[in-house]
Amino acid sequence: MIPVRSATVADASRCAEIYAPFVTDGWVSFELDAPDPDEMAGRIAKALNSHDWLVAERDGAVLGYAYGSEHRTRGAYQTSCDVAVYIDPGQARQGLGRALYEALLPRLKARKIHAAFAGIALPNEASIALHRAMGFELVGTYKEVGWKMGGWRDVAWFQRLL
Ligand SMILES: CC(C)(COP(=O)(O)OP(=O)(O)OC[C@H]1O[C@@H](n2cnc3c(N)ncnc32)[C@H](O)[C@@H]1OP(=O)(O)O)[C@@H](O)C(=O)NCCC(=O)NCCS
Repeated sequence: MIPVRSATVADASRCAEIYAPFVTDGWVSFELDAPDPDEMAGRIAKALNSHDWLVAERDGAVLGYAYGSEHRTRGAYQTSCDVAVYIDPGQARQGLGRALYEALLPRLKARKIHAAFAGIALPNEASIALHRAMGFELVGTYKEVGWKMGGWRDVAWFQRLL
């Protein structure tokens, strides 16, 4: 059993540390600059207010996190959200991603979220496999929707109804 709990802003530094390589070393994230702990604290606070932000920890160490965020701004979209999950690369394939989503998705449903979306920059075999394992289905692929590290990048969108 992997302990999963709601994040606090005190988790911001560790979440920023986990996230940074996915910004700087490739295009898993489409951000161009890794957020600092202050920026991450703001994101955590916002997500806790609107959706949720969870961390998975073992022996007091945060090993990964997952959160929900707004899908689109207009009113009728507010029953949908985006989800994302990031695991410390040294801790992959130990059930952390699954544990985070198994906790996050019911919490989003309890907040009256009906549909969860995940945009996965390609290629990302692990993320596609995790989302399929969690019941997400492919909606379609945005071709060449982003430019990062000298190339066009595609994003596959997956969704699950809650
Ligand atoms: C994608 C990611 C979140 C998966 O997290 P994880 O903790 O390693 O995944 P889990 O151990 O919970 O795996 C759950 C299931 O997902 C699938 N899966 C996960 N990683 C996989 C891999 N590398 N290859 C194939 N299937 C995989 C399997 O079905 C697995 O179940 P199993 O281990 O019983 O076979 C993690 O690899 C990660 O953080 N990657 C980098 C960041 C990222 O891509 N985030 C998603 C952005 S859209």
